[in-house]
Amino acid sequence: MSKSIVILTGAGISAESGLGTFRDEGGLWAQHRIEDVATPEGFARNPKLVHDFYNARRVQSTAAEPNAGHFALVKLEADHPGEVLIVTQNVDGLHEKAGSKNVLHMHGTLHGALCHACAHRWPAPTTMSPEAPCPSCGKPVTRPDIVWFGEMPYDMERISNALAQADVFVSIGTSGEVYPAANFVTEADMFGAHTVELNLEPSSGVSRFAETHFGPATQVVPQWVAEELARAK
Ligand code: APR
Repeated sequence: MSKSIVILTGAGISAESGLGTFRDEGGLWAQHRIEDVATPEGFARNPKLVHDFYNARRVQSTAAEPNAGHFALVKLEADHPGEVLIVTQNVDGLHEKAGSKNVLHMHGTLHGALCHACAHRWPAPTTMSPEAPCPSCGKPVTRPDIVWFGEMPYDMERISNALAQADVFVSIGTSGEVYPAANFVTEADMFGAHTVELNLEPSSGVSRFAETHFGPATQVVPQWVAEELARAK
Protein backbone atom coordinates (compact mmCIF):
# COMPACT_ATOMS: atom_id res chain seq x y z
CA MET A 1 0.00 0.00 0.00
CA SER A 2 1.58 3.33 -0.99
CA LYS A 3 2.22 5.80 1.80
CA SER A 4 3.46 9.38 1.57
CA ILE A 5 5.92 10.29 4.33
CA VAL A 6 7.13 13.85 4.89
CA ILE A 7 10.06 14.22 7.27
CA LEU A 8 11.14 17.56 8.76
CA THR A 9 14.65 17.61 10.18
CA GLY A 10 16.47 20.16 12.31
CA ALA A 11 19.92 20.59 13.82
CA GLY A 12 19.31 17.78 16.33
CA ILE A 13 19.69 15.06 13.68
CA SER A 14 23.23 16.31 13.00
CA ALA A 15 24.20 16.83 16.66
CA GLU A 16 25.76 13.36 16.95
CA SER A 17 27.76 14.06 13.81
CA GLY A 18 29.53 16.73 15.85
CA LEU A 19 27.67 19.76 14.45
CA GLY A 20 26.30 22.23 16.97
CA THR A 21 22.61 22.99 17.38
CA PHE A 22 21.31 26.54 17.76
CA ARG A 23 19.33 26.69 20.98
CA ASP A 24 20.78 23.95 23.17
CA GLU A 25 23.15 24.86 26.00
CA GLY A 26 26.17 26.62 24.41
CA GLY A 27 24.53 26.45 20.98
CA LEU A 28 25.33 28.68 18.01
CA TRP A 29 22.94 31.40 19.14
CA ALA A 30 24.68 31.53 22.51
CA GLN A 31 27.98 32.22 20.69
CA HIS A 32 26.82 34.60 17.93
CA ARG A 33 24.08 37.24 17.65
CA ILE A 34 21.45 36.26 15.06
CA GLU A 35 21.16 39.89 13.95
CA ASP A 36 24.89 39.94 13.16
CA VAL A 37 25.29 36.67 11.23
CA ALA A 38 21.83 35.52 10.09
CA THR A 39 20.03 38.58 8.71
CA PRO A 40 20.39 40.58 5.46
CA GLU A 41 20.98 43.69 7.62
CA GLY A 42 23.89 41.98 9.42
CA PHE A 43 25.36 40.99 6.05
CA ALA A 44 25.08 44.55 4.74
CA ARG A 45 26.71 45.88 7.94
CA ASN A 46 29.63 43.45 8.07
CA PRO A 47 29.89 40.88 5.22
CA LYS A 48 33.28 39.65 6.46
CA LEU A 49 31.84 38.65 9.87
CA VAL A 50 29.04 36.76 8.09
CA HIS A 51 31.42 35.00 5.70
CA ASP A 52 33.75 34.05 8.57
CA PHE A 53 30.77 32.54 10.47
CA TYR A 54 29.62 30.43 7.50
CA ASN A 55 33.15 29.56 6.31
CA ALA A 56 33.80 27.95 9.71
CA ARG A 57 30.49 26.04 9.57
CA ARG A 58 31.19 24.96 5.96
CA VAL A 59 34.58 23.50 6.95
CA GLN A 60 32.95 21.71 9.93
CA SER A 61 30.06 20.28 7.91
CA THR A 62 32.38 19.17 5.08
CA ALA A 63 34.43 17.20 7.63
CA ALA A 64 31.34 15.80 9.40
CA GLU A 65 29.99 12.34 8.67
CA PRO A 66 26.30 11.35 8.62
CA ASN A 67 25.12 9.30 11.61
CA ALA A 68 22.71 6.42 12.15
CA GLY A 69 19.80 8.85 12.12
CA HIS A 70 20.64 10.04 8.58
CA PHE A 71 21.30 6.49 7.38
CA ALA A 72 17.97 5.24 8.78
CA LEU A 73 16.19 7.81 6.58
CA VAL A 74 18.13 6.55 3.55
CA LYS A 75 16.83 3.04 4.33
CA LEU A 76 13.27 4.32 4.70
CA GLU A 77 13.51 6.07 1.32
CA ALA A 78 14.93 2.94 -0.31
CA ASP A 79 12.03 0.85 1.04
CA HIS A 80 9.44 3.45 0.04
CA PRO A 81 10.68 4.59 -3.38
CA GLY A 82 9.17 7.90 -4.42
CA GLU A 83 7.14 8.21 -1.22
CA VAL A 84 9.56 9.94 1.17
CA LEU A 85 10.36 13.66 1.13
CA ILE A 86 12.90 15.09 3.58
CA VAL A 87 12.35 18.80 4.24
CA THR A 88 15.44 19.90 6.11
CA GLN A 89 16.09 23.13 7.98
CA ASN A 90 19.74 22.08 8.08
CA VAL A 91 22.33 23.49 5.72
CA ASP A 92 25.06 20.90 6.40
CA GLY A 93 24.41 18.57 3.44
CA LEU A 94 24.56 15.42 5.61
CA HIS A 95 21.32 13.92 4.25
CA GLU A 96 22.77 13.81 0.73
CA LYS A 97 26.14 12.66 2.07
CA ALA A 98 24.31 9.70 3.69
CA GLY A 99 22.59 8.89 0.37
CA SER A 100 19.13 10.47 0.68
CA LYS A 101 17.85 11.49 -2.74
CA ASN A 102 14.62 13.44 -2.22
CA VAL A 103 15.80 16.30 0.00
CA LEU A 104 14.44 19.85 0.05
CA HIS A 105 16.60 22.54 1.69
CA MET A 106 14.09 25.09 2.95
CA HIS A 107 16.86 27.17 4.58
CA GLY A 108 19.37 26.76 1.74
CA THR A 109 22.80 25.15 2.01
CA LEU A 110 26.32 26.03 3.18
CA HIS A 111 27.58 24.37 -0.01
CA GLY A 112 25.86 26.87 -2.29
CA ALA A 113 26.77 30.49 -3.07
CA LEU A 114 24.30 33.18 -4.09
CA CYS A 115 24.82 36.65 -5.55
CA HIS A 116 22.97 39.25 -3.48
CA ALA A 117 22.77 41.47 -6.59
CA CYS A 118 21.74 39.19 -9.49
CA ALA A 119 20.62 35.99 -7.64
CA HIS A 120 23.10 33.85 -9.62
CA ARG A 121 23.84 30.51 -7.80
CA TRP A 122 26.95 28.34 -7.95
CA PRO A 123 28.73 25.77 -5.75
CA ALA A 124 30.27 27.57 -2.77
CA PRO A 125 34.07 27.60 -2.52
CA THR A 126 35.36 26.42 0.89
CA THR A 127 36.15 30.00 1.83
CA MET A 128 33.95 32.84 0.68
CA SER A 129 34.99 36.47 1.06
CA PRO A 130 33.35 39.88 0.64
CA GLU A 131 35.75 40.83 -2.19
CA ALA A 132 34.98 37.76 -4.37
CA PRO A 133 33.12 38.91 -7.50
CA CYS A 134 29.94 37.14 -8.63
CA PRO A 135 30.89 34.82 -11.55
CA SER A 136 27.87 36.15 -13.45
CA CYS A 137 27.50 39.89 -12.80
CA GLY A 138 30.95 40.53 -11.34
CA LYS A 139 29.65 42.46 -8.33
CA PRO A 140 31.39 41.73 -4.98
CA VAL A 141 28.16 40.93 -3.11
CA THR A 142 28.33 37.15 -2.90
CA ARG A 143 26.77 35.38 0.10
CA PRO A 144 26.22 31.81 1.25
CA ASP A 145 22.97 30.44 -0.24
CA ILE A 146 21.39 30.43 3.21
CA VAL A 147 17.89 31.75 4.04
CA TRP A 148 18.28 34.37 6.78
CA PHE A 149 15.75 35.56 9.32
CA GLY A 150 13.24 37.85 7.64
CA GLU A 151 13.67 36.07 4.28
CA MET A 152 11.21 33.61 2.73
CA PRO A 153 12.22 29.94 3.04
CA TYR A 154 12.64 28.07 -0.27
CA ASP A 155 10.00 25.84 -1.92
CA MET A 156 7.14 26.67 0.42
CA GLU A 157 4.47 25.81 -2.18
CA ARG A 158 6.02 22.40 -2.76
CA ILE A 159 6.19 21.82 0.99
CA SER A 160 2.55 22.81 1.54
CA ASN A 161 1.46 20.46 -1.26
CA ALA A 162 3.47 17.61 0.27
CA LEU A 163 2.00 18.23 3.73
CA ALA A 164 -1.52 18.24 2.27
CA GLN A 165 -0.92 14.77 0.79
CA ALA A 166 1.14 13.25 3.61
CA ASP A 167 -0.05 10.09 5.33
CA VAL A 168 2.72 10.45 7.92
CA PHE A 169 4.61 13.55 9.10
CA VAL A 170 7.74 13.02 11.16
CA SER A 171 9.62 15.85 12.90
CA ILE A 172 13.20 15.02 13.91
CA GLY A 173 15.68 17.09 15.94
CA THR A 174 13.99 20.46 15.84
CA SER A 175 12.96 22.71 18.73
CA GLY A 176 9.82 23.93 16.99
CA GLU A 177 10.86 27.53 17.66
CA VAL A 178 11.10 28.83 14.08
CA TYR A 179 8.20 29.35 11.68
CA PRO A 180 6.98 28.30 9.14
CA ALA A 181 8.58 24.90 9.91
CA ALA A 182 7.12 24.90 13.43
CA ASN A 183 3.64 24.93 11.91
CA PHE A 184 4.12 21.97 9.56
CA VAL A 185 2.76 19.52 12.17
CA THR A 186 -0.49 21.50 12.36
CA GLU A 187 -0.79 21.63 8.57
CA ALA A 188 -0.14 17.89 8.22
CA ASP A 189 -2.56 17.06 11.05
CA MET A 190 -5.25 19.24 9.44
CA PHE A 191 -5.03 17.06 6.32
CA GLY A 192 -5.26 13.86 8.34
CA ALA A 193 -1.61 12.81 8.55
CA HIS A 194 -0.33 10.74 11.47
CA THR A 195 2.19 13.00 13.21
CA VAL A 196 5.38 11.82 14.95
CA GLU A 197 8.04 13.67 16.93
CA LEU A 198 11.49 12.07 17.33
CA ASN A 199 13.62 14.36 19.47
CA LEU A 200 16.10 14.41 22.33
CA GLU A 201 13.49 16.17 24.44
CA PRO A 202 9.96 17.54 23.93
CA SER A 203 9.92 20.46 21.47
CA SER A 204 7.69 23.54 21.80
CA GLY A 205 5.10 21.83 19.61
CA VAL A 206 5.16 18.45 21.36
CA SER A 207 1.46 18.56 22.33
CA ARG A 208 0.50 18.66 18.63
CA PHE A 209 2.04 15.28 17.80
CA ALA A 210 0.05 12.03 17.90
CA GLU A 211 3.20 9.94 18.61
CA THR A 212 6.44 10.97 20.34
CA HIS A 213 9.73 9.19 21.08
CA PHE A 214 12.49 10.94 23.00
CA GLY A 215 16.17 10.14 22.89
CA PRO A 216 19.22 10.72 20.69
CA ALA A 217 18.45 10.66 16.96
CA THR A 218 20.91 7.81 16.45
CA GLN A 219 18.61 5.68 18.62
CA VAL A 220 15.04 6.92 18.13
CA VAL A 221 15.22 7.39 14.34
CA PRO A 222 16.49 3.89 13.42
CA GLN A 223 14.02 2.46 15.96
CA TRP A 224 11.05 4.29 14.43
CA VAL A 225 12.14 3.46 10.84
CA ALA A 226 12.43 -0.24 11.75
CA GLU A 227 8.91 -0.20 13.22
CA GLU A 228 7.58 1.67 10.15
CA LEU A 229 9.17 -0.85 7.77
CA ALA A 230 7.70 -3.72 9.79
CA ARG A 231 4.26 -2.10 9.55
CA ALA A 232 4.63 -1.76 5.79
CA LYS A 233 5.31 -5.51 5.34
N1 APR B 1 19.12 13.81 18.87
C1 APR B 1 17.88 14.31 18.64
N2 APR B 1 17.52 15.59 18.91
C2 APR B 1 18.48 16.40 19.42
C3 APR B 1 19.79 15.94 19.69
C4 APR B 1 20.09 14.59 19.39
N3 APR B 1 21.31 14.08 19.62
N4 APR B 1 20.50 16.99 20.23
C5 APR B 1 19.65 18.04 20.28
N5 APR B 1 18.44 17.69 19.80
C6 APR B 1 17.23 18.51 19.69
C7 APR B 1 17.07 19.54 20.78
O1 APR B 1 16.37 18.98 21.89
C8 APR B 1 16.25 20.63 20.07
O2 APR B 1 14.86 20.34 20.20
O3 APR B 1 17.35 19.25 18.48
C9 APR B 1 16.66 20.49 18.61
C10 APR B 1 17.58 21.60 18.13
O4 APR B 1 16.85 22.79 18.18
P1 APR B 1 17.50 24.11 17.56
O5 APR B 1 18.87 24.26 18.09
O6 APR B 1 16.50 25.22 17.77
O7 APR B 1 17.65 23.80 16.01
P2 APR B 1 16.52 23.84 14.91
O8 APR B 1 15.19 23.45 15.49
O9 APR B 1 17.01 23.07 13.76
O10 APR B 1 16.46 25.40 14.51
C11 APR B 1 15.57 25.77 13.47
O11 APR B 1 16.42 28.02 13.54
O12 APR B 1 18.20 29.38 13.79
C12 APR B 1 17.36 28.85 12.86
O13 APR B 1 17.80 28.49 10.60
C13 APR B 1 18.09 28.00 11.87
O14 APR B 1 17.35 25.99 10.80
C14 APR B 1 17.50 26.62 12.05
C15 APR B 1 16.16 26.91 12.70
